[in-house]
Amino acid sequence: MTYSRPKGTSDIYGNEAAAWRSVEKTIHSVCRDFRFEEIRTPMYEHTEVFTRGVGETTDIVQKEMFTFQDAGGRSLTLRPEGTAGVARAFVENSMFGGVMPVKLYYIMPNFRAEKPQKGRSRQHTQFGVEFFGAETAECEAEVISVAYEVIRRLGIRGVELRINSIGCAECREKYNSVLKQFLGGKINELCAECAKRFQKNPLRALDCKNENCKKIMASAPSPLSVLDEECAGHFEKVKDCLNNLGISYIVDEKLVRGLDYYTRTVFEFISSDLGAQSSLGGGGRYDGLIEALQGPETPAVGFGMGIERLLIVLESQGLLPNTEPQTTVFAGHMGEAGKALACSMIHKLRQNGISAEGDILGRSVKAQMKFADKLGAKYSLIIGDDEVKTGIFKIKDMKTGAVTEIAANGIIEFFTGKPEGK
Ligand code: HAM
Repeated sequence: MTYSRPKGTSDIYGNEAAAWRSVEKTIHSVCRDFRFEEIRTPMYEHTEVFTRGVGETTDIVQKEMFTFQDAGGRSLTLRPEGTAGVARAFVENSMFGGVMPVKLYYIMPNFRAEKPQKGRSRQHTQFGVEFFGAETAECEAEVISVAYEVIRRLGIRGVELRINSIGCAECREKYNSVLKQFLGGKINELCAECAKRFQKNPLRALDCKNENCKKIMASAPSPLSVLDEECAGHFEKVKDCLNNLGISYIVDEKLVRGLDYYTRTVFEFISSDLGAQSSLGGGGRYDGLIEALQGPETPAVGFGMGIERLLIVLESQGLLPNTEPQTTVFAGHMGEAGKALACSMIHKLRQNGISAEGDILGRSVKAQMKFADKLGAKYSLIIGDDEVKTGIFKIKDMKTGAVTEIAANGIIEFFTGKPEGK
């Protein structure tokens, strides 16, 4: 029998793992600069966190969750997205009782039983931020600017920001009835999915990908047309704040997003380098979620961005970081005494933050040097009986071929530029 990884998952190693680390490093440093703190929540939650949080009518809850029962018969679900679990943690840990606003970020794997294709997998990783406790439009602008700063530092070009407002719960209710009126005579022309959603969540028909639904929805009324004064005012302020930060955007009146918790502002980052799955990230305001999870009324805004999709864009723009493995020193050996000294020297080099490698396969000296070349070592030395006796080592610069003789107590300083122990 051969073993293969489950459909829609991948093994990440070598250069690809190094590219992931580099992207993650950028994310951590941007979030530090914007003063967001990292949060890590469990990989699975009680199923109700998602059914209640993400929403019963969403594709995620209806078709895509990996749900199982534990030994006690409780229903648990692998996290399909980050927001609901982070909101649960915000409530459970009474973060609302501390300094507000609370600004959190995460890099976490999510699981959705979707049909795999380019940019869509069953396990994907999202970088996301969740900003709790601010109802001002500056909050949307700050969250969006975090995403833009990550994109800028990674060097990615051509990402388009689309924004829309679906209003507060009341505006949404009003819009749903306007939309039901508009769709009333056309239910039979809608795709099966939209026809099913017609009663509970007709809004989703707006971003349906079915060609027929798209045609019908082209003349549908816009959610912006029913916004009350406050929601309309808020959307104007969001645009003003984005203008103030120099972030350009397109108002996309068909943008509604596929999760039920959103209120007012919704947005997506679109990249033409992604093909059909063109959304690099998306998010919005969700002022009702904390209350839905039994917490106090707390406004919130956030977004999620797929790391796999960031890497696809980086690759297609020729921006994948240079991920040559870093080996500073190769310390080879000849003979038993040389082997012992090489081993202890390598250990000491590593303890001093110098990446070092040796031979533990019993290769010949010639083969050891070939190996050093393959590792891309910057320096090499061979430790044999002479070196053991004299305590003097010949360190070769692998690029220039220059050899420097160094005594044992000067080795660390030679590589770090600092005396040992400093
Ligand atoms: P989402 O739009 O479902 O939003 O996902 C956000 C991003 O995660 C997508 O734009 C995409 O880059 C990536 N993504 C989603 N599903 C997959 C998949 N199957 N394969 C690869 N990448 C994928 C959310 O999940 C919200 N929690 C975002 C949010 C945070 N809203 C407020 N706060």
